[in-house]
Order: sequence, then C-alpha cells, then structure tokens
Amino acid sequence: MNVPNLKEARKRSDKPVLYKEEQLLYSNELAGKKYFLRTYGCQMNEHDSEEIKGILDFLGMEPIEDMESADVIILNTCAIRENAHDKVFGYLGRIKHIKKERPEVIVALGGCMSQEEHIVEEILTRHPYINIVFGTHNIHELGNYLLNCLPGKQDIEVYSIEGDVIENVRYKRDSKITAWVNIIYGCDKFCTYCIVPYTRGKERSRKLDQIVKEVEALKQEGYQEVTLLGQNVNAYGHDLDENVEFADLLEAVAKTNIPRIRFVTSHPWNFTDKMIDAIAKYDNIMPYIHLPIQSGSDRILKLMGRRYTKEEYKELYQKMKERIPNVAITTDIIVGFPGETESDFESTLDIVESCQFDGAFTFIFSPREGTPAAKMQDDTPLEEKEERLRRLNERVNYYSRLNNEKLLEHTVPVLILGQSEKDASKVYGYTDTMKLVNVEAPKETIGKIIDVLITDAKSFSLDGKVKEPMKVS
Ligand code: SAH
Ligand code: SF4
Ligand code: F3S
Repeated sequence: MNVPNLKEARKRSDKPVLYKEEQLLYSNELAGKKYFLRTYGCQMNEHDSEEIKGILDFLGMEPIEDMESADVIILNTCAIRENAHDKVFGYLGRIKHIKKERPEVIVALGGCMSQEEHIVEEILTRHPYINIVFGTHNIHELGNYLLNCLPGKQDIEVYSIEGDVIENVRYKRDSKITAWVNIIYGCDKFCTYCIVPYTRGKERSRKLDQIVKEVEALKQEGYQEVTLLGQNVNAYGHDLDENVEFADLLEAVAKTNIPRIRFVTSHPWNFTDKMIDAIAKYDNIMPYIHLPIQSGSDRILKLMGRRYTKEEYKELYQKMKERIPNVAITTDIIVGFPGETESDFESTLDIVESCQFDGAFTFIFSPREGTPAAKMQDDTPLEEKEERLRRLNERVNYYSRLNNEKLLEHTVPVLILGQSEKDASKVYGYTDTMKLVNVEAPKETIGKIIDVLITDAKSFSLDGKVKEPMKVS
C-alpha cells in the first residue's frame, strides 16, 4: 500500500525523468468482462480515460453504460473544486449498494482525488468496499492492479512523487476526427489556490520527436485536429536537455500539415513573442488562445501567485490581437478569493470590459486542503460571492454574444464533428476560433472542414448553413 502525502507532493524532486515504453502484460482472465467508466475534470483527465480504455480494451474487456450491470466500475476523478468531490461521493452511495448485492464487482478510483491525502484517508476509513485506488502517475499499471485484485482486499497505489514519462501508450480514443496529445505533464506554478501541482507532480515535457511522431501517425489515420495538452503548455521544453521551447514544438507540429492544431492551457507568464509569431505564421495553428486571467486586481493576482499584473496581461492580450489575425481569446476567472473586496472585484469587471473576451469560465473560489489559499482569512459571505459571480457572468455572456454576433452573415471554416442530437437534419462542429456551430448540412460532412454561412448568433453557439455550392476541403 502506497498512500499519497501532500508534503512529499509539494517537493520537486531532482530525480531525472525516465522515458519508458508502455508495457502491458496480456492475460485473458478479464476478457469479456464489462466495465463502466466515469470521467470528471479537465481535458487531461478525459485523455487519461482514453489510456484507461486502451488498457481495458487490450485485456478484452467491453464498455457498458449501465453501472448496475458492470463487472468493473472505474471513477476517474477531479479535485479542482469541492463540487467535483461532491459528485464522486454522491456516486459512491450507489456503488456501495451495488457491492452489497454483488460483492464480486471490482471498484477502482483513480484521478486527481486519489492523489489527495485526506481523500485516501476517508476511503480507507469510510469506503472499504473500494478495491483499488490508483493515482495519476501509475495509470499504466491499472491492468496489473485489476488482474491482481483479491476479493475483500484494498489495494492503494498512489505515488506522491511523480512517475516517469510513458511513451507509446495504446489510447482508445473517443473520436476519429479530433485527438488529444500530451506535451507536458504536471505543473510547477503553485498558484496558491490550486491543487493541480500536488496531484499531477512536477513539470515533465515529452520529447519533441515523440510528439511529432504521434501527430504524424494521427494524421495518417485521418485525424483532422490535434489539441496539444498541458496544464501550462508554454512551459514546454524548459526541463529538457534539448534547447527547445513551445514555439519550436508548435512549428514542428505545424509542419506535419495536420489540418488543425490547438493547444490548452496557456499561462500568461510564459507566453513569448516567438510563440505569438509561430501561431500567426502557420494557417493550421488555430487562432484561438485560452488565456486564464483569474482576477483583474493586482493585489489578488499577487496573493494568487500568478506572476503578472493586470497591465502586463492587457499588453499581452493586445499584442495577440494585433499580431494574430482574427484571434479569439477566452479566459478563466475566480471570484471570491480570500480577502477579495468589492473594489478588487470591480477591477475584474473592468478587465472584462476592456478585453471583451470571446468566452470565460467563471468559478467561485473553493478552498483546497493543503494549498496556501485554504489557510488565508476569508470574510466574504457565500451569498456575496454568488452575487459577484452573477454580475460577472452577465458581462461575460454579453461579450460572448457580442463576439458571436460579429460573425453574422460571415463565412467561416467549421470542422464538423457529428450529428446534432436534437435535430437529425443538422450537424455540429467548431470554427477555427473554437465557436460551436449547429449547421444545416448532411451527415456526409462529418469529419470534414466546410465553409459555413453564419445565420444566427447566441451567447454560447452559432447557427449556420452550408454555402452553395458546398466546398468540402
Ligand atoms: N492550468 C490551467 C488551469 C487549471 S484548472 C491554468 O493555469 O490556467 C482550471 C481553472 O480552474 C483555473 O484556471 C481556475 O480558474 C480554476 N480553479 C483552479 N483552482 C480553483 C479553486 N481552488 N477554486 C476555484 N477555481 C479554481
Ligand atoms: Fe493550477 Fe496555476 Fe498550475 Fe494552472 S498554472 S495548473 S492554475 S497551479
Ligand atoms: Fe481536475 Fe486534475 Fe484536471 S484536479 S481539472 S482532473 S488536473
């Protein structure tokens, strides 16, 4: 048993990162068994679930949607805010009931919650029916844990200090059109509110040639789009011996000629001119940047440990707008950080007015055990924070709609991803600037980039129709 330790997780080891090939041991013991997998959290967790599915697929297991009839139940969890925890604990009630009826069912809990010390303590004391707890650094071992799972025993294997970089992972990808590609694991920024550096360990970049090889293979398979993934993509390469940075990686990936390249998430602190120039230079790097600001108050930004001021953010924002034609920029904002006053909050509203973001994810601060901000004095009542969130969302939605309305009567390239669930005569997809469009078009357009005339604009989506004659590229 290896339980997580927050103090250890905070340390940054100087142990060299080992680059290893994924080694899966084959056995037919679990072949034909049904698994239920539920994923919470960010794109990184979604992509980790594609690794989990790859392992289960390799062992001959089959996915099912109905948890009640599953042989194996796996929850890939998120720890970013308290409500992410609550959702998982809500599910555990149902799982406990299933285990009473069918004790042979194997239950495994993975993801970022498993990396939290107090959560694992709670599992040990209050949820003994969970068989396996695995972390974010040992997903590749899941097959072995399942094969060795003994009835009535708990197997907890979570590494506080990060593991190695595993290459040649057998992902079972959810889409045949768009694919996630990890470029850097972990995060060394330690923003004072954030649990991620503890749950994902230190920054570890994949080697540039491995990433390019993966993108080339995806292109060969017919993928239209890759999204380069990292908690902080701009930090790419800083830990490698080779002298490469994110801009070099962008160029190398662009040269594969895969039709569309995206990347998340960018930290304003590491965004260099060279990166902006690379995005502007290549047509297949999409003009869309998710650039979290978190707050518009310099005092709060400092308490958050964000390493930039409101003015520095604005300058970067303006530079991107000037140099990257047609760029769309979205952001993340936290309201109610400990000590945030009405005047701090107004500075946040002020930056929303001046940047006029294409979209923003907005959150109420949620204290995460073990992070510095969880210990800061916080006098603002929850009702006040909710009111600030409501006021913020009203402005944020106003500007997303305004930006969407600018596209009315314009023709934009849309990568079609699937058929609309509500209306079979429609398909949906995303513009180069990452706006969701519902399009009147036949399903033969799925997987293609088509020119769409925008006919209606709302806050969170657009409507459009195919330009005649239809251009399919
Ligand atoms: N690595 C990314 C974001 C990771 S988490 C970045 O640095 O931008 C996604 C978003 O969740 C963050 O941008 C932040 O806005 C929000 N978030 C993180 N921790 C939070 C907390 N403790 N309470 C509320 N929101 C939080
Ligand atoms: Fe969290 Fe900050 Fe790292 Fe983003 S950059 S993952 S917010 S610590
Ligand atoms: Fe959640 Fe972990 Fe992602 S905490 S947001 S799943 S990195």
